[in-house]
Amino acid sequence: MKKPVDLNAAYQPAEFEFRDADEVREIMARYPAGKQRSATMPLLDLAQRQVAQDGARANPPYGGWIPRAAMDEIARILDIPPIKVYEVATFYSMYNLEPVGKYLVQMCTTTPCMLCGSGDIVKSCETHLGIHTGETTRDGLFTLVEVECLGACVNAPMVQINDDYFEDLTPQVMTGLLDDLAAGREVKMGPQNGRISSMSEAGTTTLSEKADQLGIAKAG
Ligand code: FES
Repeated sequence: MKKPVDLNAAYQPAEFEFRDADEVREIMARYPAGKQRSATMPLLDLAQRQVAQDGARANPPYGGWIPRAAMDEIARILDIPPIKVYEVATFYSMYNLEPVGKYLVQMCTTTPCMLCGSGDIVKSCETHLGIHTGETTRDGLFTLVEVECLGACVNAPMVQINDDYFEDLTPQVMTGLLDDLAAGREVKMGPQNGRISSMSEAGTTTLSEKADQLGIAKAG
């Protein structure tokens, strides 16, 4: 998915500074001398998480994204041209280059999820949140985007919200999840239909002795 990026937008802050200099040093020390530019990706991730921490305390809240000033600061720290950081940040979809909601709802709509009903779930999100895909709610809580396969097809349809996967969704379960997040209630990650990981919905069909030890239901 092509991420929107406007390095000169009005929302771009003039400055960015890492709060935790020790963590920056620790990340850079993972790489051999002279290869510090390899720290570009973890530093981009650190910047995005720092912005998310700030956003969680803001009113209205916002989620993690990477301002141009952060990319420039990473280039300064690593002593590389800023374009080298922009190249990486614009290539990988996990880096958000414009402000997003506190909860980034990444709905998988690739074939297995589509065949299992992701289209209905996207529609239910749009109706429930009052936004279209690609938009952010006025309260700053949710940004809804469609993404390609997130590698959890066996538990389709699924969504990634910030760092967490929610699987085996129905439209009702999905809107309930959104309500719980908006209300600050605890949510359960992973399968939402009661099964464990990607086991058969009817219960285990192999390794039955292990299932007995763990108290897991077996298929009848
Ligand atoms: S198609 Fe949705 S996780 Fe693979």
